[in-house]
Amino acid sequence: MKLDSRLALCADMVQGDYICDIGTDHGYLPAYLLSTGKCSRALCSDINPLPLGSSEENLNKEGVAHMAQFRLSNGFESLDITGVTDIVIAGMGGETIAEILSNEKSRCPANFILQPMSRAEILRDYLAANGFEVTSERAAVCGGFAYAVMSCKFTGTPYIISPERRITGLLSKDDPASRELVSRQISRIISAVRGLINSSDMTLKSKGENSLSLAEKIRSDWGFE
Ligand SMILES: C[S@@+](CC[C@H](N)C(=O)[O-])C[C@H]1O[C@@H](n2cnc3c(N)ncnc32)[C@H](O)[C@@H]1O
Repeated sequence: MKLDSRLALCADMVQGDYICDIGTDHGYLPAYLLSTGKCSRALCSDINPLPLGSSEENLNKEGVAHMAQFRLSNGFESLDITGVTDIVIAGMGGETIAEILSNEKSRCPANFILQPMSRAEILRDYLAANGFEVTSERAAVCGGFAYAVMSCKFTGTPYIISPERRITGLLSKDDPASRELVSRQISRIISAVRGLINSSDMTLKSKGENSLSLAEKIRSDWGFE
């Protein structure tokens, strides 16, 4: 089976052989990892029964369902993640991913692979404030959109990130997909601040001006026109 470039990047960032896929939905990622032999076990979970059933069905089609467990669970709530090497939380908003992580109380030593569909900056804030060290970050362009994928470890040591890093993460200026993602982020910031800058409310106006100068700084640092 073939994954799209977003899920292929998540698969590429898997380091061990026992994956836990939270919000598994169709189960394409564990189906791929098990059928290619990159992983030998999978824990597939979803908060909703229908997607969980679809995951099981697709793993069955690939002949790998016997290597997986399927669990109905809100985030980590009903999961036993003992021995899991990689935890993937992909295809959800950055705030939802942060909320799911906030309920991971076992301080699991796994590699966390996080792929926010939106509000990546909220997730980066959460990771920094809660001691999840981002060890690498890459981007994928897929179906007309651009996505960041982060690989993190829980260290328990909080750190501070700059306003620029909230937007660009650890993405590389040399990578075309990362450039595409950051360029889109800048355009998004600029169109969001337009109304604020013309506001008669001085607090909103100043907020808009700060966001605009941040966007311009990133644009210049990354060498965008
Ligand atoms: C858009 S799908 C993403 C599927 C797949 N992970 C991907 O990236 O293609 C999001 C899935 O996350 C599930 N989900 C949302 N919140 C969840 C939570 N708190 N715990 C577990 N699953 C959740 C939804 O039911 C849905 O199946």
